[in-house]
Amino acid sequence: MSLDAPQGQVARTSAEAAPILEARGIGKVYHTRDAETWAIGDITASFAKGEFVSIVGPSGCGKSTFLHMIAGFTKATRGQIVLGGGISGRGKLGYIFQKDTVLPWYTVRQNVSLGPSFIGKPAKEISARVDELLEMAHLRAFAGSYPHQLSGGMRRRVALLMGLANDPELLLLDEPFSALDTHTKTHLHRELLEIWRKLGQTVIMVTHDLDEAVTLSDRVIVLSSRPSSILLDERIDIPHPRDVFTVRQTEMFTRHFTRIWSVLGQQFRKPE
Ligand SMILES: Nc1ncnc2c1ncn2[C@@H]1O[C@H](COP(=O)(O)OP(=O)(O)OP(=O)(O)O)[C@@H](O)[C@H]1O
Ligand SMILES: [Mg+2]
Repeated sequence: MSLDAPQGQVARTSAEAAPILEARGIGKVYHTRDAETWAIGDITASFAKGEFVSIVGPSGCGKSTFLHMIAGFTKATRGQIVLGGGISGRGKLGYIFQKDTVLPWYTVRQNVSLGPSFIGKPAKEISARVDELLEMAHLRAFAGSYPHQLSGGMRRRVALLMGLANDPELLLLDEPFSALDTHTKTHLHRELLEIWRKLGQTVIMVTHDLDEAVTLSDRVIVLSSRPSSILLDERIDIPHPRDVFTVRQTEMFTRHFTRIWSVLGQQFRKPE
């Protein structure tokens, strides 16, 4: 296991049993012209292969920053991100950004094909994979549509497929379902869980929706306000497969929700 990468750099491990990802003592400061902001104070966490982990916390506590660091878009100021457990590198990451990143001038099919085209997959292979994904997300009939011809929920589904198209081992989702109505959101939750159960990726999802976090996750990590640290790492022991339409009515759900909210709610009482 290689633990000797320089500060803020990525190290890789080769042991299959190792976690797919570890954050070790991560801190992040941003410098602007007249200020410095410690976004992340100290985050240490590990993520097992195939786990679905949600991260919740107050706005501005560094959740998107944490995902950016995992993806290698920005470096940690201190600490290390370690990719391991057989993951072969960042080419195996899928990312769904907080902002809508579907390209308006491309059709649904062209958008979903983008990732595999970038890495030079043969056209025939791309076409078969995209057909499979569109079928799975019930978008086959809209393959030739442009994003402006889709509903918000359908566009988010296209973004999700774009993140999945390269068969990522690690899927990073930044508020993938925010701004969607409950009906659309619940259907997308069901689809995401089906995809995850079928493909078995490790998922790290940032969300402000605690219902969503408990419904989908194996673990929910609660971050404090800036500079953030982990306040709670709650294992959600609701068995799979979960029925996203009824799971909220179960006693187990309420127990987890209440425990997480008792910690998260305290953060919202603090002044900004
Ligand atoms: N590129 C940047 N330059 C300077 N400061 C930044 C930059 N990106 C983020 N920040 C600051 O770092 C802090 C954390 O930002 P980040 O976007 O990671 O928060 P977040 O937890 O994702 O918030 P939200 O829930 O609102 O999406 C904020 O105070 C933000 O202003
Ligand atoms: Mg964010």
